[in-house]
Amino acid sequence: MKISIITVFPQIYDSFLKVSLVARAIEKKLIKVKFIRFSDMIESTQRIDEPTCGPGAGMIIKPDVIQKAIEKSEKEWGKAFKIFFSPQGKKLSQPMLKHLAKNILKFEDKVSSKSNISESDSHIILVCSRYEGIDDRVLKYYADLVISIGDYVVMGGDIPAQIFLEGLLRLLPGVVGKKESVEQESFSSAFFDYPQYGLPVEWKEMKVPEMILSGNHAQIEKWRKDQAAKKTIENRFDWFISSKPTSQEIDIAKKFIPNHYVALMHTQVLVQDGVVGNSSIASLDIHDIARSCATYDVKNYFIVTPLKDQQNILNSFLQFWRSDEGKEYNLSRYQAIEKVVPSLSLSVVMDYIKKKEDADPIIISTSARFKDFENKKWIDFFSQGRIFKKNRPVLILFGTGQGLCDQIIEKSDFLLQPVIGLTNYNHLSVRSAASIVLDRWLGVNFKSFFYR
Ligand SMILES: C[S@@+](CC[C@H](N)C(=O)[O-])C[C@H]1O[C@@H](n2cnc3c(N)ncnc32)[C@H](O)[C@@H]1O
Repeated sequence: MKISIITVFPQIYDSFLKVSLVARAIEKKLIKVKFIRFSDMIESTQRIDEPTCGPGAGMIIKPDVIQKAIEKSEKEWGKAFKIFFSPQGKKLSQPMLKHLAKNILKFEDKVSSKSNISESDSHIILVCSRYEGIDDRVLKYYADLVISIGDYVVMGGDIPAQIFLEGLLRLLPGVVGKKESVEQESFSSAFFDYPQYGLPVEWKEMKVPEMILSGNHAQIEKWRKDQAAKKTIENRFDWFISSKPTSQEIDIAKKFIPNHYVALMHTQVLVQDGVVGNSSIASLDIHDIARSCATYDVKNYFIVTPLKDQQNILNSFLQFWRSDEGKEYNLSRYQAIEKVVPSLSLSVVMDYIKKKEDADPIIISTSARFKDFENKKWIDFFSQGRIFKKNRPVLILFGTGQGLCDQIIEKSDFLLQPVIGLTNYNHLSVRSAASIVLDRWLGVNFKSFFYR
């Protein structure tokens, strides 16, 4: 593979190209690297940059300087896939690297059968800018891909280019000794790589887990898979849900996601003018929240009311849906309604869960009132791992009327970030809010791999 690097400072790459696997790739002639300096594209009396147009500080590399560099490079080594680096680009990821290796640069297609070494003749140009970035017109005209290495700004594109090359070149056949090393690693599946250990067996009073030393390969593999899943679920649940997990991976992940419960409070809620009271049961809330609970694997859905007449209404409703007639009428509705547990109070709910799980649930309240979020206990929809680590059941509370009263919010362990749209309209029905919350908290939501 031919790599042209267009840069202000080729010397930044001196040691990068001289050591480790990158040096080996050059030695083995798997890659050829060439530098084009922006300053070689101009006369000695000229500058490569100009102040940016319009108000504001900063310099920008002139478009015609970049143009000359690209044209020179393509003239020498042929048409190239052109990559620019910018904090505004698509975030670099393992799936992106794999996509490039497989579909754009076609690494595997060009492996020679004799040597198992890539004979890729693709040409990539890496344009490494500095100063204020790249003239927008240049990006529009030339960029096949703009890559960001993360949500922060560094001084130039050269370190991003080196990070990109380290990631990409590992995938080029022949660069990394063992093929499996690059196949079974973090970000190649829904789970990270499993925990690794070396010798000595005991270090700083910590031992290599006995399982690893057991010699039972099948058991070790299973143990490693579980450990990988645990680490991922607890530390990067966002990766798991966005990685298109297989059903087998979802089954493994569930071992490390504690059981979830939902309670819809028809008591201890704010009714009119901030008064704490009771609210009436609504059949749509029973159906719809039960169906959301079934979708997101919530174990039980408690409907909490201390009022006799409301309990009677609820029970007669449940009776129909739990009868043969109800089952025949709509089986999936019947299955969802099976999760519903009528309850008299929150403490009854807590006791029920404690008895079933042998542990007190972590209570997470929900609220749409912004003033509640001055509360220190609030958590966002990216903090599942923090809660899952505690290995206790989770109970999510939803309020009816005008929401859960202060006493309930104070009693809960956490308060979940409100569901907000791009308007000031703040009147979602509780059944809508419940499905959004469950989806954000437990939903699988995968990205297309390339654009992740
Ligand atoms: C100082 S930065 C320009 C930042 C630009 N003004 C902005 O705010 O988006 C100069 C150059 O560094 C490189 N760079 C900085 N941060 C980067 C990142 N996170 N990913 C990729 N390249 C980056 C790019 O080549 C960029 O053009």
